[in-house]
Amino acid sequence: MKYINFDGKNVSSVVMGCMRINQLSRSEAFSLIDAARECGINHFDHADIYGNGECESIFGEYILRNRSDRDDMFIQSKCGIRQGYYDFSGEHIMQSVEQSLNRLHIDSLDCLLLHRPDALFEPDEIAQTFERLYSDGKVKAFGVSNMNSMQLELLRKYVKAPIIANQLQFGPMFTGMIDFALNENMTKPESVDRDGMILDYCRLHNITIQAWSPFQYGFFEGVFVDNEKFPQLNKCLQNIADIYGVTKNSVVSAWVLRHPANMQIISGTTNINRLKEIARGADIALTRKQWYEVYTSTGKTLP
Ligand SMILES: NC(=O)c1ccc[n+]([C@@H]2O[C@H](COP(=O)([O-])OP(=O)(O)OC[C@H]3O[C@@H](n4cnc5c(N)ncnc54)[C@H](OP(=O)(O)O)[C@@H]3O)[C@@H](O)[C@H]2O)c1
Repeated sequence: MKYINFDGKNVSSVVMGCMRINQLSRSEAFSLIDAARECGINHFDHADIYGNGECESIFGEYILRNRSDRDDMFIQSKCGIRQGYYDFSGEHIMQSVEQSLNRLHIDSLDCLLLHRPDALFEPDEIAQTFERLYSDGKVKAFGVSNMNSMQLELLRKYVKAPIIANQLQFGPMFTGMIDFALNENMTKPESVDRDGMILDYCRLHNITIQAWSPFQYGFFEGVFVDNEKFPQLNKCLQNIADIYGVTKNSVVSAWVLRHPANMQIISGTTNINRLKEIARGADIALTRKQWYEVYTSTGKTLP
């Protein structure tokens, strides 16, 4: 496993995403968390809305059974998405954190992320709320999710604590944040920068990008691995997998982690074998050529 410095702590490059653990029985979910930890994964991603709180509750039951291991785990959650609207009000953030802590059976979140930009967000109100959460000992660090550069810039003008993470969709079939940079100053659709150069912005400000849904194409349209819609990509992943003696899942993980931005990959699998394969990818350093081969095997062209 590869580890990165995150809020002064060593956290694994592979994060276990807990969005789908409510699809499992309790014992299956606990085995998945155990398997993640055996692979060296010590970072767990939640949100108040995952399973309407059920995913955090399941994880909380695991914590109750493994109380002495709490400090070995970096537990983060997200808030701000409500039924039919987004809400970054101080009142909602405070209430959501309280509920997450209760469900997770922990005293403090290692990191709190604002889940998806609220068009009505008031950065000074967020700043005051973060300060209170920090001074009350309820949240140790702060991040965001799905934010572009200027939204982050605005937030950072008010929030004193460093913003340490931005969760963004990224994987071989979801590469908007790098496409435009490869097609700079051209007239192709890929040349359009849709997020204010978010990748460079995060690197400049030491904000760790956490790649969500790395195995999906489109916005939750499906998985590309072993999908007949993507023969070239699967052939390429298999060729590289054969070289390293791993599986295609490991190569996808290695591909995300090969980027020098020191990203984390958030794995969402509920399958122990797949999780082990994804974790294995953290130990593989793809060559530059292999990285580009995966990129272009998705059908993208280089100028
Ligand atoms: N910030 C945000 O807005 C946001 C949005 C979405 C997700 N997230 C976070 O990111 C995490 C990961 O998201 P995700 O679950 O969508 O990611 P993912 O790892 O891309 O997808 C996992 C899903 O794809 C299936 N899958 C993955 N690889 C497969 C393969 N090789 N063959 C067949 N099926 C495969 C899994 O099935 P099995 O379970 O059967 O393996 C599971 O249903 C979430 O848990 C959450 O923590 C954040």
